[in-house]
Amino acid sequence: MWVTPRMSVRTGRTKISLLIFLVLSCFCGQSHGQYVDDPSAIQNVTYTYENYVLSGSMMLKSFPYNMNAYIYYQTYNGVWNFTGTIITVHWQWENAEVTYGNWSFSGPISPYGISKFYVLLQLVETGATYIDDNHGQYYAVANGAPRSTANCTGYDVVQTSVSSGVTNLNLALNGNGCALYSSDVKNLTVSITPYTSDIVRIKIADTANKQWQLPANVVPEGSASTGTIKTKSYTVSYTKSPFTFQVSRPSGEVLFDTSVSGLPSLIFENEYLEISSVLPDNANIYGLGDMADSFRRPPDTTLQTLWNIDQGTTRKNNAYGSHPVYYELRNGLVHGVFLRNSNGMDIALVPGQITYRVIGGVLDFYVFTGPTPAGALDQYTSIIGKPAFVPRWTLGFHQCRYGGTWVSTQGIKDTVDSLQQAGLYLDTVWADINYMNAYDDFTLGSGFWDWNAYVATLHQEHLYHVPIVDPGIPIVNGYRPYQDGLSSDVFLKWPNGSLFFGQVWPGVTVWADWFHPEAGTWWSNEIKNFHQIDSFDGLWIDMNEASNFVTPEGYEPAYTINNDGAWGVTGLNTRTLSTNLTHYSGVAEYNVHNLFGHYEAIHTHNALAALNPGKRTFVLSRSSFAGTGHYSQKWNGDNAATWDDLYLSIPQIMSNQLFGIPMVGSDICGFNGETTEELCNRWAQLGAFYPFSRHHHSTGMNDSFFFLWESVTESALKAYTIRYTLLPYLYGLMQQASTIGNAVFRPLWWDNPSDSNTYGIDTQFTLGNGILVTPVLTEGATSVTGYFPDGIWYDWYTGGVESSSAGYKTLDANLTHVNVHIKGGVILPAQYPAKTVYNTTQNPYFLIAALDSKGTSSGSLYVDDGVSVRSAYTQLNFGLSGSSLTIGVSKNSFNIGPKLNSVQILGFNATSVPSTIYLNGRTITGAKASLSQQVLDITGLSIGLNSNSVLQWK
Ligand code: NOJ
Repeated sequence: MWVTPRMSVRTGRTKISLLIFLVLSCFCGQSHGQYVDDPSAIQNVTYTYENYVLSGSMMLKSFPYNMNAYIYYQTYNGVWNFTGTIITVHWQWENAEVTYGNWSFSGPISPYGISKFYVLLQLVETGATYIDDNHGQYYAVANGAPRSTANCTGYDVVQTSVSSGVTNLNLALNGNGCALYSSDVKNLTVSITPYTSDIVRIKIADTANKQWQLPANVVPEGSASTGTIKTKSYTVSYTKSPFTFQVSRPSGEVLFDTSVSGLPSLIFENEYLEISSVLPDNANIYGLGDMADSFRRPPDTTLQTLWNIDQGTTRKNNAYGSHPVYYELRNGLVHGVFLRNSNGMDIALVPGQITYRVIGGVLDFYVFTGPTPAGALDQYTSIIGKPAFVPRWTLGFHQCRYGGTWVSTQGIKDTVDSLQQAGLYLDTVWADINYMNAYDDFTLGSGFWDWNAYVATLHQEHLYHVPIVDPGIPIVNGYRPYQDGLSSDVFLKWPNGSLFFGQVWPGVTVWADWFHPEAGTWWSNEIKNFHQIDSFDGLWIDMNEASNFVTPEGYEPAYTINNDGAWGVTGLNTRTLSTNLTHYSGVAEYNVHNLFGHYEAIHTHNALAALNPGKRTFVLSRSSFAGTGHYSQKWNGDNAATWDDLYLSIPQIMSNQLFGIPMVGSDICGFNGETTEELCNRWAQLGAFYPFSRHHHSTGMNDSFFFLWESVTESALKAYTIRYTLLPYLYGLMQQASTIGNAVFRPLWWDNPSDSNTYGIDTQFTLGNGILVTPVLTEGATSVTGYFPDGIWYDWYTGGVESSSAGYKTLDANLTHVNVHIKGGVILPAQYPAKTVYNTTQNPYFLIAALDSKGTSSGSLYVDDGVSVRSAYTQLNFGLSGSSLTIGVSKNSFNIGPKLNSVQILGFNATSVPSTIYLNGRTITGAKASLSQQVLDITGLSIGLNSNSVLQWK
């Protein structure tokens, strides 16, 4: 059966804006004000609200000048607020005959954080206030006319029991309910489970167990401690009538409180669930995504919609992934809240509250109490799964290109040759859909007849290769993936059992049902077969929201989430799979839409693990859900070659750290649109510090490879020299992320949670706690102002002190300079950089020891074979104090080949240069120290790193 498209075909990468008029409905006769003077003073009022701009006109008696029009809005619960919007009124002409002037007005109204607003014109001029009460209109941001919540009186606790520390409550609906958008669920069961000393789970589900609940094999639910938890860092209380719950710290600080004054306590309908919690004024909220927005989410105007969509970086729009988790930073302490629910939802931050509006499933909350940022992330990832440990080679530079000259082996080879001739760093060569025959997965096109031979030469040079694979399988008779999928019956179907067809690059396609028990085997087989003709090292899974070029028919619930809101709200079926589809065993696509990419990532990871048993996998996914980081890495999709997107990449990468996906990056130099030399230059400087560092550019655009411009080449060389030098450090951060869940690419507050100056900073970041990057993000800049948290910060290039107390500094930033600073107190393990990760790992080590104000510093080094899952490894700890450096081996099961050749000590303020260097008490002949500008350089060492040692200087 072919699905009739309701919308025109759209590509997955080039978005044409569809500016849709927002639904409006007129509620005439509402009384919201009084005329101060003549009730007929305002006539013929018209309003239009289009693309977030309200405009209109009116006839107005008499001729006031300098008028302003005030617009009011109503929040969902019926509370009236002033939008803060004053729109400008323009006088146009005077109709002397009837003594009316004709006036028009226009101004922007942000829809974020409000579900609707009401236009109440209040024109103010000296001596006269005109209020237009007869023509006011409601403008729904997404959901039509407001619905009264007067009958949404919530639930009462009717039975309580406690068993093995778990509190179980039975709730009954109060009265008849309110049926706001669907039918009220009459009986609910609440379980309050202390998980660990820092995590509590509060689950509110329908007693009848009819609502969709997430299977733990797809989205983990963590596991509660088996023994008694002695000290809990939270207390949970609840009210019985109506039922609300509160989670507090033992200090009494309330972290989550669902009794929000004036709001429904709980709405639990089969397709509409609403619950809110109190937030402090001007709360510091982070997380909730995917979203291109500031890292600190505007606490008064955020509307985060979760419905995975193929939509490039558009500010304030829902995007490719769904992460229903937020972290709040309050007075230096962090806690987080995870709603384990895969249904579509809107999460609104408005002054003093957070509101969840979810279109199905159950309310399964986890509150984790931190209180440190790292502690909070460790707790969250203990529920959803720790991030996968990436193969070491993936930390190198990745080159990709869609179209252009990358349509044959030769075209790709030419680029690789040019990069190498320019002396640029390179580790991984990607292949976009152009390598395929007719865009069919697992095939090679005619320009790629010699591809695998070329991949073999890449491997000889210790370079790696990652091709793209899309989930849309073309319907071609005799095409093996399609035929095999048909035989295993793994493709998605309509409820009547017929196959669902849509359209992606190759034309008409079907999609796998990842819930099908045979889907994993089918996918693994196709991947295994493909590996015979393309010896790839990882896979890139794109278009997995899932993206469909046509919009099928499908169910739309009564509550419209703000899907694609920045482009004009649209239905759930827009350019994706139909919500009517059923997966294996009757699972409704409506409930699991947000899991498509996540589940594909799980199957792809499993396929790669089967292909190379015992080896780590590398899967780059565009779509994600809570827990995807355990299986896969991510990039931020189709950004644009703009300065704004350059900036947005920082908050996007930071947010993904909070989602448990540390290995993430954005397309360097911008995917869509033409970049410029200056933009690409600044992007090379920033992108060199992305955890996942890949240059990529769209088809139909000019090339934007680094080597095309002298300045960009110079910047890339400079910045990537720092990256490759710091590979041992970066790899150690990745290893920590995969074990204790710590962030790699950090906001400044991560290591300075009590410094409120850092809370809003997202134009700078640190790698681990030791490296601070202050990139240029504006066109034409030759300097950049950055914040330096407390402590000593040394300049990367000179080793000199840049800052020794918290504050802002303006730094020189000529075109080829990126500002990088090292934190005093940190020892960075480093290796002399070569042009690939492999060659770098063969080179000797050196240490950069940046002293704190006490003259001490410490650090660590983690080394293994770079690819094995449960590798033998060696862990070293370094401590520098006074005139000695201790190297302690805490675990030693991997033999480290390269030696430690030198140590640089920054902030060395003795005047005399040490003349003798000792290792374990013995003079090292050939070692020498030199001092310049408080940088002591000890060279001529050759210290084995497999055993304890002490280096001293006198
Ligand atoms: C969309 C992806 O986001 C982009 O990176 C890729 O180049 C195109 N699809 C073509 O495969």
